[in-house]
Amino acid sequence: MADLHPDNPYAKDRFPDRAKQVEFPPEHKARFEHLLTRYPTKEACLLPTLHLAQEVWGWISPEVVHYVGSLLDLSPAQVFGVVSFYNMYNQKPVGKYHLQVCTNLSCMVSNAYDIYDHLCDRLKINPGETTKDGLYTVVEVECLGSCGTAPVVQINNDYHENMDVAKMDALLPTLK
Ligand code: FES
Repeated sequence: MADLHPDNPYAKDRFPDRAKQVEFPPEHKARFEHLLTRYPTKEACLLPTLHLAQEVWGWISPEVVHYVGSLLDLSPAQVFGVVSFYNMYNQKPVGKYHLQVCTNLSCMVSNAYDIYDHLCDRLKINPGETTKDGLYTVVEVECLGSCGTAPVVQINNDYHENMDVAKMDALLPTLK
């Protein structure tokens, strides 16, 4: 099976630590085995397996790409193609709270950039960065599919709708 181009950060030769191997903890291994029974082919199980992996490690590292590929008999290129297509899969480590501010049309005209800029200012980070304490990452994302309740901020798996700067300020201290 084809591997990734050596220039690709997910290619095997560019592992930050090639010796470091990953493996699902027993509980997640059992959940993975159960998932396999619910899909007609191993390949069809790729998205939920990546969700499971992200639950364990918080992001889909190069090692995880290769590990998931080995579990599902897929090449790293096939796994990476899916990881890079969906922005719900993190391609680099994120903070404990992943603040994803939608800035597409409906949210943009509802002052989403006020929230986004305010978050970066208040947390003293640039867009896309994580705070030094590892608590928060702020990113800009495309439409979250909830335009009727714009502006929307997704924090980990939860949607926060009809947001504004004041609501964001009130919410932030509750995330610890
Ligand atoms: S534009 Fe923000 S949810 Fe659709």
